[in-house]
Order: sequence, then structure tokens, then C-alpha cells
Amino acid sequence: MTRTGLSRVQQPEAADREAILALADEAAAVDGTSPLNESAALIVAGERPGDFHLSHEDGLLTGFTVADPRERTVVAAVRPSHRRRGIGSRLLAAALEAHPGHSVWAFGTLPAAAALAEHLGLAPVRGLLKLGRRLGDEAVGPVPEGYTIRPFAGEDAAAVVAVNAAAFAHHPEQGKLTLDEFRALTLQDWFSADGLFVAHHGPEVAGFHWTKRHDAETGEVYVLAVHPEHDGQGLGRVLLETGLAHLAEIGCTQVVLYVEEDQERVVRLYNSANFNQVNLDTSYARKDG
Ligand SMILES: CC(C)(COP(=O)(O)OP(=O)(O)OC[C@H]1O[C@@H](n2cnc3c(N)ncnc32)[C@H](O)[C@@H]1OP(=O)(O)O)[C@@H](O)C(=O)NCCC(=O)NCCS
Repeated sequence: MTRTGLSRVQQPEAADREAILALADEAAAVDGTSPLNESAALIVAGERPGDFHLSHEDGLLTGFTVADPRERTVVAAVRPSHRRRGIGSRLLAAALEAHPGHSVWAFGTLPAAAALAEHLGLAPVRGLLKLGRRLGDEAVGPVPEGYTIRPFAGEDAAAVVAVNAAAFAHHPEQGKLTLDEFRALTLQDWFSADGLFVAHHGPEVAGFHWTKRHDAETGEVYVLAVHPEHDGQGLGRVLLETGLAHLAEIGCTQVVLYVEEDQERVVRLYNSANFNQVNLDTSYARKDG
């Protein structure tokens, strides 16, 4: 029997999972950005729970949504050859009816996604900026008086997590990092204590810059945090410079980072350090809730 219309599944069959990945690849090739993030990809792989809405025409998958209960978000894509036929609207309306509190990610904030969100009465609620720049000879300015910066040592762990929580109190995910999660990250292959710079003020940890090397060329400003009691003294800038100099020293030629669009002070800091916008992801939600 050939399937036509909308269906909802929690545990898609292997053939459906493959069709979702193939459609996502086709969309990524046309749109220049994948409709799946890491969490949605894990759901499609069956490694995390999720909820799918699928659209079929004569057995062909024409579109899908993946609802992610962990992040309370929905991602969506329509087969490029089947766009502007109302499939995206029907899928998203069904997914949001099933998950009223979820927001919808538009990776790359493509014009079609922004228009569809508007059409569905959704408004932008969050923007995630990806910034980047080349690395070269990196100058490091003087460390503000009373502070010292040195690589991470095991006894810093709890204080680093506390600074992270204070500095990212506003952030939907980053501020929730627990000591156990932090320790688990330090056990990842990519972790290097030499790439995690901790600023001390007497016995206190005042801030840190955690860098991450992705591959031979690319490094990331993974987390840059200054405790609110120590901000406004230039500590963030010198921590940033220290980490960038380290990434350049170990051979990285470019650096990227992700920052919430509404963190204007932080975005200004990065812009003044010559970072440019590479991408913007926008999250949309119902205007009334
Ligand atoms: C965004 C996306 C899901 C839209 O799917 P779709 O099936 O083409 O959307 P619909 O046909 O339901 O469009 C509904 C309305 O959205 C608006 N819209 C959709 N695509 C548009 C485009 N390219 N330009 C302008 N308006 C557009 C229109 O108002 C449209 O109504 P209309 O056709 O009567 O004018 C699809 O383009 C896609 O898969 N993009 C890549 C993945 C992505 O960005 N996902 C995020 C979803 S928020």
C-alpha cells in the first residue's frame, strides 16, 4: 500500500529513518544548511526519544518534523521539489498542536522558513549567531591587576562550574552545566587542560576561556565566561586573546564561536576582536505563549 498524507510516529521504521536522512541531505544541498541539529540527528538515529510527523505522497516522503522533548524544539524540512504546496504548514501545525510549548528552529534563518513562521503566526524568540575569523599573529594584552591566568587544574572544577552558572544564568542550555557534566566533558577526546584558561583573583576563580580544537585548522571559543562580580575590567578580552593565541600556537588557522544574538555586549566584544557573522539560526514560537 502506498502512503499518502500526514502520519505521526515515535519509533519510525528503518526505511523511514533512511528516507528522513536522505531528505535532510537533499534539503541541505539546496539550502546550504542542514535541517537537523545534533540532537535531532540523534533522535533520527534512535539514540534519543522524539516524536515525528511525516508527510507522504504515493509512498514518497515529502517532508518531516522532529519534535525534541529534551530541548523542547521542533525541526522541519520539506523535499525541495515539493515546496510551496502547503506541506510545511500542515506538518508544523500538526507538530505544534502535539507540542504546544515547543519552539521551531530555522537553521540559517532561510527566507522561506521566516516566511512560513510568519504565516503560522510564530515570532522569533531566539537567535543563535555563529561568528568566525582567521587566526594569525595573536597579540595578548596585559592581564588586569590582581588577576592571574593559568591552564585548568583539577581543583578548579567546582569553581569553574560555579562561574559558568553565574555568567550564563540567562542562557537556556549553557547555564545548566553541572559538575558531573563538566567532568564528563573533560573526559572527551578533544579536551585539553592546556586549552582551558582559568583567571584567578586571590583564591577565587573569576573567569575562564575554554577553547576546543575541531580539526587541524579550526578551533572554537567553546565557552568564554567572566563572573558578573569581575566584569567590566577587561578580563573577558584578555581571556579571549589568551585562548586565541593558544589556538594559533597549536596550528589552527581559523576560529568559530556561537553566541546568543541578544547578548549585545558579548557580540560587541567579538566584533571588536574582528569576528564576522558566518550564520544565524532563529528559533520561532507562538506569539501568545
Ligand atoms: C521552510 C519550509 C519547511 C517550507 O515548506 P513548504 O512546504 O514549502 O511551506 P508551505 O508551502 O506550507 O508555505 C506556507 C507559506 O509560507 C510562506 N513561504 C514558504 N516558502 C516561502 C518562500 N520560499 N518564499 C516566500 N514565502 C514562503 C508563504 O506564505 C506560504 O504560503 P503561500 O505558498 O500560500 O504563499 C521549506 O522551505 C524547507 O524545508 N526549508 C528548509 C528547512 C527549514 O528551513 N526548516 C525550518 C522550518 S521553520
